Amino acid sequence: MWRNMGRPAPDRQAGAEPALSAFRTEGVAAKGLAIMGVTIIFGATGGIGSALARRLAAAGRRLHLVARDPERLGALAAELDATWASCDVGKEDRLDAALAQVQEPVDGLVYAVGTINLKPLARLTVDEMLEAYRVNATGAALAVQAALPRLKEAGNASVLLFSSVAVGQGFPNHAAISMAKGAVEGLTRALAAELAPAIRVNCVAPSLTRTALAAPLLANEQMARSIAALHPLQRLGEPEDVAALGAFLMSPEAGWITGQIVGVDGGRGTLRGKS
Ligand SMILES: NC(=O)c1ccc[n+]([C@@H]2O[C@H](COP(=O)([O-])OP(=O)(O)OC[C@H]3O[C@@H](n4cnc5c(N)ncnc54)[C@H](OP(=O)(O)O)[C@@H]3O)[C@@H](O)[C@H]2O)c1
Repeated sequence: MWRNMGRPAPDRQAGAEPALSAFRTEGVAAKGLAIMGVTIIFGATGGIGSALARRLAAAGRRLHLVARDPERLGALAAELDATWASCDVGKEDRLDAALAQVQEPVDGLVYAVGTINLKPLARLTVDEMLEAYRVNATGAALAVQAALPRLKEAGNASVLLFSSVAVGQGFPNHAAISMAKGAVEGLTRALAAELAPAIRVNCVAPSLTRTALAAPLLANEQMARSIAALHPLQRLGEPEDVAALGAFLMSPEAGWITGQIVGVDGGRGTLRGKS
């Protein structure tokens, strides 16, 4: 259910001149890659979503933020001079209302919403499987679907989805999330093919990264150290590790990259440790 909507700042009203800074249009404009319009971030208040939002705002992007909790959304939107809307992506059949305020071309869309429900298959219920699928996979597809007309208007837009290290490599107790994120990887490639050349679609697959999502696995410091040691690079991920690649993939500099699933995982997805 929709609960609230951030009020656009005066220069964000429909019809107002977009406040594009010369900083973000010069240079790339000469190559026909100018960034225009608004970038939408689903999961903007999360560990990775907020790190990416701050990077994109610092690069001059105008943002529209979406998540459930209106208080955290309002605070981040005030900090970044962004618009926002509160929505539960797992409960909506269409996400159009979350984007009702966006009246201009959409130059980028990030879907950084996720779940983690680790259980042996024997204890997983159908509802838990479908919830993971709905929030991670269907939600991503519906978010892109809702923004599609505006993404096409931008002429040169980028979509960023999130998978997990637990798709390319099997981990015990990950059936629900691995099934759902596997679907996200398939969605990434399908949409990259379907929406080229106007819209690039890529996906980042992190290993365990210090955010609220991962907090239950990291509450015990000994367990956190043990998991860190499983990574060839011997540490856990930080939101900035993931946001740095995300910001690059969203930028014009990544203009010839689409349909890719890129690990940000300390080597865990592809390398054996030294032990
Ligand atoms: N952190 C990791 O270790 C890790 C590892 C692999 C993959 N990933 C993936 O990376 C992405 C970002 O994860 P994160 O670690 O940054 O997660 P996070 O810190 O828990 O943030 C999740 C964000 O999504 C929003 N959200 C959650 N459920 C929602 C729903 N049903 N409807 C709308 N918004 C919802 C949250 O805000 P509200 O609660 O207010 O809605 C928050 O803004 C996710 O796709 C996750 O699966 C993370």
